[in-house]
Amino acid sequence: MALVESSTKVVLGGVRGGPDAATLRQDRWWIQPVATMSVLVAFIVYSTWAAFQNKYYYVGAAAHRDLISPFYSPCLAGSCVAGAKSGFAFNWWRLSPALLILIFPLGFRLTCYYYRRSYYRAFWWSPPACAVADAHGSYSGETRFPLIMQNLHRYFFYALLLFNSMLTYDAVRAFDQPGLGLGVTVGTIVLSVNAILLWRYSLSCHACRHLCGGGARNFSAHPLRYRFWKMLTPLNAKHMNFAWASLVFVALADVYVRLVASGALTDYKLF
Ligand code: FES
Repeated sequence: MALVESSTKVVLGGVRGGPDAATLRQDRWWIQPVATMSVLVAFIVYSTWAAFQNKYYYVGAAAHRDLISPFYSPCLAGSCVAGAKSGFAFNWWRLSPALLILIFPLGFRLTCYYYRRSYYRAFWWSPPACAVADAHGSYSGETRFPLIMQNLHRYFFYALLLFNSMLTYDAVRAFDQPGLGLGVTVGTIVLSVNAILLWRYSLSCHACRHLCGGGARNFSAHPLRYRFWKMLTPLNAKHMNFAWASLVFVALADVYVRLVASGALTDYKLF
């Protein structure tokens, strides 16, 4: 049988990027980076706008509700509206209370292993997709500033455990409707689903799994760690799903509270 000669020259180990390094892929590989970029840009634009708004983030006793936007919880500024305030306040803070706490969830997401992959592909094109050339001529990894900051991820994880606990507390508080007693409204469900998704996203984190099982040479000597590691491993496999679901839902939860607080929507009581 005669061999068919390929006319395409493939150079292995060549220079990264450049005009000679075009991809051989024929499929629509660009759809994923473009979709990733669109969702992330939409989230960044909305969350920045919402954080600077400094209003319509709380529905209080006047409406027989106790709903706070996840972007503003815990509300630590002295300017927080009555009812939304946590026990401790920075009275000197004059800007939006959301800006005080934004660094923690933002830092957690920015340094997340999954999001790194996504935004390195979508924004830096480094590389844009499998078997597609890098848009840059060199690669220094995460060994220099600013990307060396990615190593802070585990510390953001610890901080997020506190934030998730706070948002869970908010969801539980939402069941108590001032003047009416206990009940379930659409807002209660929105805050509860938000807290569940954020817990799932955090507990499926690679740093969390490493905390449980990493460094243990012998699981039989660490039965508790082994149990946690076994529990978290299936969640970890779905980390990407929880990353997107929690990102979209946290924005939707803010939208919901904002609409109710501004009077554009009624928070219906289900029972
Ligand atoms: S790896 Fe994604 S949150 Fe830790």
